[in-house]
Amino acid sequence: MNVDSFREMYIAELQELRSVEAQLIDALPKMAEFASHAELKQAIRTHLEETRSQQTRLDAILHRHGAEPREHVDQAMQAMLKEAEKWAGMVQDQDLRDAGLIASAQRVEHYEIAVYGSLATWAKLLGQENDLQALLSSLDEEKQADELLTGLAKRMINPDAAAT
Ligand SMILES: [Fe+2]
Repeated sequence: MNVDSFREMYIAELQELRSVEAQLIDALPKMAEFASHAELKQAIRTHLEETRSQQTRLDAILHRHGAEPREHVDQAMQAMLKEAEKWAGMVQDQDLRDAGLIASAQRVEHYEIAVYGSLATWAKLLGQENDLQALLSSLDEEKQADELLTGLAKRMINPDAAAT
């Protein structure tokens, strides 16, 4: 696909983000299984539900624009998830692994926050008010998920890992 206009670039980036969410829907159940702290398991499962609705929001946006949802595979996300799995497999201690899982999950969240932020700005410039509201809802969920992980890490998971 050639990208020759701002609108086409916007659609292509939406398709990339749709692939990010789809990959995360596959990865989060595995991450929840790897997690040992009940709070972390729960946070990952809650975010899985949010991720499903974020994917649905993106599908609705793409549908409004008459675009195919499965056009692109986001390779940055693929690489990040591969690294996360590799790390989780290398670490046997449960507390250390949970701290590592949070570090991996926060990489992903920050990446998503960056992409949602750009897309929300572009939606606004393109006058796509419905898209903008949906993108901002997802952006807000990503930020909250990130903050929740920071809280868990600081309050219990990093201290537990540091005591190992
Ligand atoms: Fe997401």
